[in-house]
Amino acid sequence: MTPQTRIAELRLQLDRHNYKYYVENAPEISDFEFDTMMRELIDLEREYPQYADPNSPSVRVGSDLTSEFRSVRHRFPMLSLGNTYSLDELHEFIDRIEKEVGQAELVCELKFDGTAISLTYEHGELVLAATRGDGVEGDDVTANVRTIRSVPLRLQGKGWPELFEIRGEVLMPYASFDRLNAEREAAGEPLLANPRNAAAGTLKQQASSVVARRGLDCTLYQLAGDNLPFTNHWESLQQARTWGFKVSDAMRICRTRAEVDDFINHWDTARRELPFPTDGVVIKVNDFALRRQLGFTAKAPKWAVAYKFKAEQALTRLVSIDFQVGRTGAVTPVANLEPVLLAGTTVRRATLHNAEQMALLDIRPGDMVYVEKGGEIIPKITGVEHSERPADSRPFAYITECPVCHTPLVRYEGEAKHYCPNAGGCRPQILGRIIHFIRRKAMDIEGLGEETVELLYDHALVRNVADLYDLRAEQLAPLPRLGERSAENIIGSIRRSTEVPFARVLFALGIRFVGETTAKYLAGHFGSLDAVMNASREELVEADEVGDRIADAIREYFADEENRRIIDRLREAGVQLEAKARTLASNRLAGKSFVISGRFLNHSRDELKELIELHGGRNLAAVSANTDYLVAGEKMGPAKLKKAEKLGIRIISEEDFDAMLAEAEAPEAEPAETSAAEAGATAGPKAVDGTPGTEATPDSRAGRATDGSATASEEPAPDSRARQGELF
Ligand code: IVH
Repeated sequence: MTPQTRIAELRLQLDRHNYKYYVENAPEISDFEFDTMMRELIDLEREYPQYADPNSPSVRVGSDLTSEFRSVRHRFPMLSLGNTYSLDELHEFIDRIEKEVGQAELVCELKFDGTAISLTYEHGELVLAATRGDGVEGDDVTANVRTIRSVPLRLQGKGWPELFEIRGEVLMPYASFDRLNAEREAAGEPLLANPRNAAAGTLKQQASSVVARRGLDCTLYQLAGDNLPFTNHWESLQQARTWGFKVSDAMRICRTRAEVDDFINHWDTARRELPFPTDGVVIKVNDFALRRQLGFTAKAPKWAVAYKFKAEQALTRLVSIDFQVGRTGAVTPVANLEPVLLAGTTVRRATLHNAEQMALLDIRPGDMVYVEKGGEIIPKITGVEHSERPADSRPFAYITECPVCHTPLVRYEGEAKHYCPNAGGCRPQILGRIIHFIRRKAMDIEGLGEETVELLYDHALVRNVADLYDLRAEQLAPLPRLGERSAENIIGSIRRSTEVPFARVLFALGIRFVGETTAKYLAGHFGSLDAVMNASREELVEADEVGDRIADAIREYFADEENRRIIDRLREAGVQLEAKARTLASNRLAGKSFVISGRFLNHSRDELKELIELHGGRNLAAVSANTDYLVAGEKMGPAKLKKAEKLGIRIISEEDFDAMLAEAEAPEAEPAETSAAEAGATAGPKAVDGTPGTEATPDSRAGRATDGSATASEEPAPDSRARQGELF
């Protein structure tokens, strides 16, 4: 047998056994046999790279290569659902449908509590997996989704459309979630809030090998495509199941309100036995023709609604109350509870928010309390069972001084929390600032975790973020759990952090309210730390996203002498305190200022802004007399439009903008025939993130226009309503 035939055979068998195990729950071979076959395949693929295949079952183990996620525009928007919280509200929804289209069959399904995903299949192969994002654009997480064993990489059976999308939910089963959190606890890492956040967070992991180990699952519940060969939803999902997708059995066609109510009542309890989280039932009109008749609101289809289960509650005893001090000095009361099982996980701690909340509930240690799980990091206490209060209980007096450094606490106007004002001398605040500074999204100093930072602090090696840059390997090596190699690694990554771009440095400083996005805007607007430092309040609020509150926090931060000393030392260490000038792709927009507003078909807003800068133009946040062009997209703010008209500013469309770039690029070409994607391509690959069509395999381009993109000439009108109508 040739290696090529053996590879093909192994792939076929592994795909089949994978499906048996992860979709049907009916394995036919032992894990050992499976692993042996997988090993053989991986070895053969390594030896014969010419037979590589992105959908080989070997991709399930993932790769350690890290990837940035490019954004992709959904061919059909990913909408949300209207929510109902009572059967009455739900019956009103059914009444409305009956009134509009008469009696309609309804399909009831579980509402899976994970993170939405859209899978695109072309010629029966998975070509794209995208997150929901803002519904219009999401992230391309294909490499990560390929590691989810229940997602078919190649379809089975027959009858699948050549190109279609199937949507569903990536879930983290409770068993995977508990195992993951146990591992994190053992490693001293912060715990994940709930399976939903864990699933979403896992999909955004940079290395797919991490995703592969996390035990995600994927359930599909909705097909989308042009001219799907079905007349109703039920049929489409039954077919999808035969193609190898995991489609839940917990579905029912209901013809009466009573049947819908039965389904809900049954699953409200039965869901507790399910191995993954659900938070409601989705009720959908079955017939596609009726769906088309019913249409959409701006955000959601009118043919479907979600019924949300009431949050599960548990009653348990409040043993004691701790107070945590965060990096900003904010104090949070945290309840220690007698462990109790709630929505599939054991709860031991819950937040009590602040003094006011506690007073409102009149909560006291020893009380029996109701705990609920929202989407938050830790569950919350929603009430006290006063009938069970111990006779000798006394009202709880809130603390008046910092539980760590004993400085008297303060309250700031308009803030519910107490603060410890001793920023420079209170251990958790100092540690919190350093830990924030080294985070991946900030200075990305690898090898330094929370525990190591504590170690450095306790050995008086680091008192603030600037001290990190004075560290030497000889100082670190003798510390417990470190050693020479880790010490060298840490010093290496501290040194590399001096290359981190200015925007992230600004975020890393941990100025109150200055998150990642605000830091980017500030960096873009001011260009250097000195400029931010010297800006007046009025100048600060001119930057996008910066309001009075943020401006004041920035001013306050730089007014502090200690902070300024730290910045001087960071400067000496070579940390980037200025935005790097970018190499321009051309000068053709030099001297022109643009305001971008609304949503666009071919580019995201950020892409447009990037294109403008790459070609020497300037982006302005607001329309003013200095604006040359307003690039107007769908749903742009009417106020902006009015102002632009009043000031006589040229209002151009996305196509006009593309043509403007293209015109200057290739004066000999006919501007009218130059496609948007070609124009974008001049700015390098990052600027041409297009529709899935643009990124698909080479064959998918056959029969398309030269650029393969979904530009206006071939696709249906860019009217979002027309496109929504195709989503079934
Ligand atoms: S249908 C047009 N079916 O709920 C709406 N969604 O609140 C298409 N979800 O974003 C969605 N289970 O992530 C549908 N059986 C189900 C679902 C479901 C969970 C999620 C989905 C959606 C959100 C809407």
